[in-house]
Amino acid sequence: MINYRQLSMDVIHAGQAISGAYVASPTFSQYGYSWLRDGTWIAAAMAKRGERASAEAFHSWAARTLLRYEAQIEHLLAKLERGETPAEADYLPTRFHVDGELGQEEWTDFQLDGYGAWLWGLAEFCQTASHPLWQEARPAVHLLVRYLQALWQSPNYDCWEENRNHIHTATLAAIYGGFTSVRRLDPELVSADWPTRIREYVLATCVARDGHFVKYIGNEEVDASLLWTALPFGLVAVDDPLFVATLAKVERDLHYPGGGVYRFKADTYFGGGEWLLLAAWLGWAYIETGRADEARPILRWIEAQATESGEMPEQVDTHCLDASYVPYWINRWGTSACPLLWSHAMYLLLEARLREES
Ligand code: BGC
Repeated sequence: MINYRQLSMDVIHAGQAISGAYVASPTFSQYGYSWLRDGTWIAAAMAKRGERASAEAFHSWAARTLLRYEAQIEHLLAKLERGETPAEADYLPTRFHVDGELGQEEWTDFQLDGYGAWLWGLAEFCQTASHPLWQEARPAVHLLVRYLQALWQSPNYDCWEENRNHIHTATLAAIYGGFTSVRRLDPELVSADWPTRIREYVLATCVARDGHFVKYIGNEEVDASLLWTALPFGLVAVDDPLFVATLAKVERDLHYPGGGVYRFKADTYFGGGEWLLLAAWLGWAYIETGRADEARPILRWIEAQATESGEMPEQVDTHCLDASYVPYWINRWGTSACPLLWSHAMYLLLEARLREES
């Protein structure tokens, strides 16, 4: 019998570079980089499992890496001040080499959700402003808060690295969550009006006529990342009618019965399979809404998707939304990512949360 908990921690340890960065996937051609989005969750899972040194090393790496790009950020902020439109290359990247260098290939770089999520994750990890890591990271946090304050209403790629020209609800929620958490620890860095302003904007622009959050402004579909609005970013409570309606629509439109969760209905990446990490998110939402019994089969489903040696993929193609795209992606990039550290991390978090329930 495989001990998925231990194996997940082993996969994550093996995927952490000396620098502290976590690689997204050690084997997939495109994922040999560290994303703050993935890393935030991987660090959260490690901290939850008592591996605080691993989480701390990641956060410290992220803070050091951001400061390396301080001049680039100041240059961008100055351009915005002067009313100029930044070039794509002026924005921060979404992924870094594990040594903090920029990737050389073209990538869909301008994405803000990972930066908001990282602020949330760092603050959650430190808990108080007197934590030495917070003190070390504070200059990077300050810089990033200014970056996000200047750009939060700019269209940018979503958390799936698509739809460059839109404003995404989950991205705004991540920035909201980041600002709220920073403010709780260190109110000097984010004034009280910021979270309020973002929340009011989301409520005014990101809600469909029938009362659920929308994928992005102007698109009434749901995306599984909308679960982040409550979990963990707290833009709304889990019993808020908006979240209740969003969860119900995610279940209806994106949960394969007895299986995993699609990112969104029109997904074609590797055929648009069921994602393990999103299944874990749905399980987490079930726990927080008093439906822990429905989360247990999800945990079992995630385990059943692992390879014989226990490695967890990004997605599985058993019930693809559009299987005709699978060969295209395999030809382009090879078989889809496995193991994906973020899948293992979300598995660990769901498993830990379920054990707290029993
Ligand atoms: C996903 C991103 C993720 C990245 C690395 C992409 O395919 O859309 O959300 O951060 O892979 O795992």
